[in-house]
Amino acid sequence: MWLYCVSVLVCAVVVSAQFPRECATPEGLRSGQCCPAPPALPGDPCGFVAGRGQCVSITADVRPHGPQYPHDGRDDRERWPVRFFNRTCQCNGNYSGYNCARCRHGWSGANCDQRVSLSTDEKRAFVNALEQAKRTTHPDLVIATRHYSDIFGPDGNTVEFENITIYNYFVWSHYYSVSKTFLGAGQASFGGDMLLDPSFALPYWNFAIGGNTCDICTDDLMGARSSFDMNSLSPNSVFSQWRVICESVEDYDTLGTICNKTSPIRRNPAGNVNRPMVQRLPEPQDVADCLQVNTFDTPPFYSTSSESFRNTVEGYSAPQGNYDPIVRSLHNLAHLFLNGTGGQTHLSPNDPIFVLLHTFTDAIFDEWLRRHGSGAIATNSDFHLLHV
Ligand SMILES: *[C@@H]1O[C@H](CO)[C@@H](O)[C@H](O)[C@H]1NC(C)=O
Ligand SMILES: *[C@@H]1O[C@H](CO)[C@@H](O)[C@H](O)[C@H]1NC(C)=O
Ligand SMILES: *[C@@H]1O[C@H](CO)[C@@H](O)[C@H](O)[C@H]1NC(C)=O
Ligand SMILES: *[C@@H]1O[C@H](CO)[C@@H](O)[C@H](O)[C@H]1NC(C)=O
Ligand SMILES: *[C@@H]1O[C@H](CO)[C@@H](O)[C@H](O)[C@H]1NC(C)=O
Repeated sequence: MWLYCVSVLVCAVVVSAQFPRECATPEGLRSGQCCPAPPALPGDPCGFVAGRGQCVSITADVRPHGPQYPHDGRDDRERWPVRFFNRTCQCNGNYSGYNCARCRHGWSGANCDQRVSLSTDEKRAFVNALEQAKRTTHPDLVIATRHYSDIFGPDGNTVEFENITIYNYFVWSHYYSVSKTFLGAGQASFGGDMLLDPSFALPYWNFAIGGNTCDICTDDLMGARSSFDMNSLSPNSVFSQWRVICESVEDYDTLGTICNKTSPIRRNPAGNVNRPMVQRLPEPQDVADCLQVNTFDTPPFYSTSSESFRNTVEGYSAPQGNYDPIVRSLHNLAHLFLNGTGGQTHLSPNDPIFVLLHTFTDAIFDEWLRRHGSGAIATNSDFHLLHV
């Protein structure tokens, strides 16, 4: 079962910091080398002897800038960070950090080979945070319950906005952005807002375990199956009390209201007997395969793109990258596997599994960036300085 702690800061692989203190010396700058030893291994740069990493030359992007960039040779950020340092640590396996002294997120132990999984208390804290977000009115934001043309109430002097809870705001943003009729460029953003405690990190669900069992569908996490109804959650889970909002895509247009909080979450993992292809979760190999798709995205930059990492992790292409209209894999397959609220595009965030399914998708992207370099996303010579 397995929820691992993860940093969802996808951009963490970019050199976001400036320079390690040990390297910021006259000798350090003159040598062009920033390869400190881990504190526990003095005299062993990057922990090379201990097998943690090695000091290597940095290969920076050498493609020329576009014609609209007039500062060639004058900006320290060009070919970052080689103006300052041209050799840094490259860490092996699960080791991480500028000196390879740390473990990658999700790993711990002296050899960074122990999975970090949630303790009983951490599981409880996570479920409680979701529950609180579902119950607490958003302190700052309200939603419009009418189209702009009807935003003034019947008397022309009131306005049609409503309070919404923090979690429901997240559901609503997604609903608003996927809906074809509203043309809203919504962003499903929550993060810090949803989690009232800033020290809280989001875990993820490794859904690529194959088989037909939802291992996080237990009462201490996302809720077990009810013993009375295949499609419902066990009454021992707080999530059985949650009510789905924005149930019908048409409500907003036909009723002039959106969120009619009546039905519970439905979920029947592996239950879609009419569609056997979505009765199994993705396989571990599918993640390995999609990480090998080298190009971030390909024309037409849509759900029909082939050999596109973006379209592959999203699950419209086979895990190996080739587009095939009947395929549903990775992210999409994990949604459809749930056969219920979490499998319907406009409703899916109503099932809290959505959060964990997406943090894992982000974690795959994070790993792809780690392997291919953040520069891999900039495919056009005009964007070379923008990949920070
Ligand atoms: C690396 O940087 C050092 C110090 O600035 C410089 O002397 C050296 O020539 C550089 N090496 C390469 C390959 O650019
Ligand atoms: C991290 O460690 C585990 C356990 O030793 C290993 O199975 C896994 O392949 C390692 N990950 C990487 C990226 O090396
Ligand atoms: C919305 O929430 C605010 C702050 O909690 C409260 O003052 C206000 O009365 C609420 N409005 C409605 C319509 O419930
Ligand atoms: C949901 O919408 C229906 C149709 O308009 C309405 O009859 C019902 O009262 C609404 N329920 C709630 C809880 O708002
Ligand atoms: C769930 O599976 C049943 C049986 O195959 C199917 O009829 C139904 O449409 C599915 N529901 C969702 C939301 O996927």
